[in-house]
Amino acid sequence: MELKNQIALISGGLGDIGRAIARELASCGADIAIGDIEEEHEAAPFVASLQDLGRGVVYTKVDVSDPKSVEDWISTISNDLGVPTLIIPNAAIVRISNIRQISVDDWNQQLSVNLSGCFYMSRAAANKLVERKKKGRIIYIGSWAANRVHKDIPAYCVGKAGLRMLCKCMAAEYAENNIMVNEIALGIINAGLSGEIMKDQPQLQESIQARIPVNEFIEPGEVAKQVLVLCDPNNRHMTGSTLLMDGGLSLGNSNS
Ligand SMILES: NC(=O)c1ccc[n+]([C@@H]2O[C@H](COP(=O)([O-])OP(=O)(O)OC[C@H]3O[C@@H](n4cnc5c(N)ncnc54)[C@H](O)[C@@H]3O)[C@@H](O)[C@H]2O)c1
Repeated sequence: MELKNQIALISGGLGDIGRAIARELASCGADIAIGDIEEEHEAAPFVASLQDLGRGVVYTKVDVSDPKSVEDWISTISNDLGVPTLIIPNAAIVRISNIRQISVDDWNQQLSVNLSGCFYMSRAAANKLVERKKKGRIIYIGSWAANRVHKDIPAYCVGKAGLRMLCKCMAAEYAENNIMVNEIALGIINAGLSGEIMKDQPQLQESIQARIPVNEFIEPGEVAKQVLVLCDPNNRHMTGSTLLMDGGLSLGNSNS
């Protein structure tokens, strides 16, 4: 797919999935604006690797749970690199704590990054597209956990469930502006947030893998390929959808 003249805005762009998406879109010709909470020097080698592909690349330290910082990020990128046309709210955090024990601060923090952060980013970017009379694509990075209770990560599940409805509300609002809004709902990736939980625990990793009907974890590069499909500038009809990519996890165990 040719993404020349497209500018991708990716939050959490220094994470495992964010990096894979940035690489994929850059290799198709898009310029890339990455936001993350890490310091600039942490981002420098990755930024340089994308620049080597001949793309314009900007890194910004930004906390997506702060709406003013998100507005400033999008305004600065629009002026310096161009108006983002491929918007990918990807930043998220997860902490293990069941609903009896989770603190109010932890609950609020997970929702403010995983749900409100996506709202701040996607609305500000959509409004910028409308203001400049440009079409665009928004792709939320969701999870099968939106639709399935995981007792140890209730705030994460609630955030991803809210994200699914945010996707539909955004899709309905901006369809007339040719801004197509979709979600990719992932199963378990052997990297990033799940990778961190399974790290140094081969038995846990094995038992999780055994529960996946296709018996394989997803690789970040495979996620990026599906995100690319949802970026298609020729897509005029798919909006408000969820592309489920979970190796069959949501199907449950048909023997039980
Ligand atoms: N790894 C999985 O198995 C899995 C499964 C389903 C969905 N997902 C989703 O994929 C997306 C990417 O996650 P990942 O697995 O690559 O994790 P990751 O931890 O590698 O990446 C997340 C990135 O978000 C950044 N971040 C955290 N808080 C932030 C904030 N307030 N503002 C800006 N950036 C912030 C982190 O610094 C990190 O670079 C998330 O939305 C996650 O929910 C992951």
